[in-house]
Amino acid sequence: MTMAPADPRLSGLVTENTHLIGGEWVPAVSGETIEVLNPATGETLVRVPRGAAADVDAAVSAATQAFPAWRDASPSRRAELLTRWAQLIDEHEQELDRLEISEVGRPHWGPLPMARMLTFFAGQADKVHGLSLPTHTPDVLGLTLREPYGVVGAIIPWNAPGPNFVMDVGPAIAAGNTIVIKPAEDAPLTPLALARLALRAGIPPGVVNVVVGYGPEAGAAIPAHRGISRMSFTGSPATGTAVMAACAAHHTPLHLELGGKSPQVLLDDADLDAAIPQLTRGITLNTGQICAAGSRIVVDRSIHAEVVRRLTEAFATIRVGPGTDKVDMGPLISAKQHDRVLGYIALGREEGAELVTGGGVPAGEKYERGFFVEPTIFDRVAPHMRIAREEIFGPVLSVLAVDGDDEALEVANGTEYGLVAAVWTADIGRAIRIVRGLQAGQVAVNQILSGGVIGAPFGGYKGSGFGRTMGADSVLNYTQIKSVSIRGTH
Ligand code: NAI
Ligand code: MG
Repeated sequence: MTMAPADPRLSGLVTENTHLIGGEWVPAVSGETIEVLNPATGETLVRVPRGAAADVDAAVSAATQAFPAWRDASPSRRAELLTRWAQLIDEHEQELDRLEISEVGRPHWGPLPMARMLTFFAGQADKVHGLSLPTHTPDVLGLTLREPYGVVGAIIPWNAPGPNFVMDVGPAIAAGNTIVIKPAEDAPLTPLALARLALRAGIPPGVVNVVVGYGPEAGAAIPAHRGISRMSFTGSPATGTAVMAACAAHHTPLHLELGGKSPQVLLDDADLDAAIPQLTRGITLNTGQICAAGSRIVVDRSIHAEVVRRLTEAFATIRVGPGTDKVDMGPLISAKQHDRVLGYIALGREEGAELVTGGGVPAGEKYERGFFVEPTIFDRVAPHMRIAREEIFGPVLSVLAVDGDDEALEVANGTEYGLVAAVWTADIGRAIRIVRGLQAGQVAVNQILSGGVIGAPFGGYKGSGFGRTMGADSVLNYTQIKSVSIRGTH
């Protein structure tokens, strides 16, 4: 078993074949490993532990031990430690960026959000207020206490491992819980590096435990564990069903975030100069592997031809290549996602949609070993087609033409999902009507996402799941309410 530092060019924050249990960097109990690949070349970056139920059990024990002291620590102290963690993340920003680029394959995409997110959660840590309650008689006091659950579990995906890690760990520990978290086997390195910085910041051993492993092994063991008091899962609907079923056995409350098929609704007066670059970015950013990706263009028939023409022109300018080069779009994360996305492209053709651009693997030697795919547009997509209803998680855009605002709403709402939606129009009255009608947890007007807003709650309607993160209640959501009545004696 190797315990040597990983390739220092990768990051000094990651040690080969260790995950974090009770403040110790240890290999899997079984000693087995998983290879993390560079998606641009298919080469192995580093080996990580192949944790399973025994590792999860050790992590839950460590988290259980750490819980009482962490729960009883002053909320101001917890806020200070989260703030210190955010500072260390800022100090290591370039290193963390390189690490996420190397495992996810994305290009550099601007400042990392993790430190800002933690600062936001730290600000909530000492504002976990209860209520004072009215009473029938003056010798009784009624009040509510907000208490942490205990040891919480989280399973996160590979598409944005840094932000996903912080989004669960931050509010959970700010509220006084301790956590056992499993990153995705394809992208565990950024989470491991972030956990190392949490320890360095002074967050006590056992508060944050990271178990690396495959979903059916380490993943399934977390919601199945009796020591887990609350669960959070982000990923596919099928795995979400399995996690929820496991939670049902012990009546464990949970939060699910299961992706989307987010519509971008273009009314006949949409400002296309503003819209086209954003719509293009909305489906090519992170190679379309974003739960909020704007994967459906629902466009009024009067501007449909122009929109398709201009999107096609914009797609032609997308530079594809390894994330370490100056490109707009990297590879997909894995051979499995590559097969999945190419499978959906084949399906779109079979279903009778019109392939306008892309549709294959880009030609050229540098694309041969990685998991590259061309940015792709399907026009004449009908609402019943699977490419219009299912999350592809790749740079594949479906264009659906509609007649008028009512049909636009009906088509926009016509999937099982309801994560994000946007409407593009110059008419504020029509915008308000569409905003109210859209079934989605987050809706934007004249932009693809809630850009520019701090503290916008994020989460799904319908099949996209339930529960919200990133809002003013993020930390409160990691507490349970105890109501207390006190009768004075005299
Ligand atoms: P997945 O849902 O299987 O994986 C997400 C996480 O769940 C990973 O950490 C994985 O190890 C874990 N997991 C897998 N099986 C598990 C099980 N039985 N019990 C507990 N944990 C388990 O998603 P996958 O296979 O990586 O991607 C398939 C599709 O899922 C994607 O193409 C995309 O459509 C969707 N997806 C959506 C995401 C989102 O942000 N909402 C993120 C990742 C995937
Ligand atoms: Mg899976």
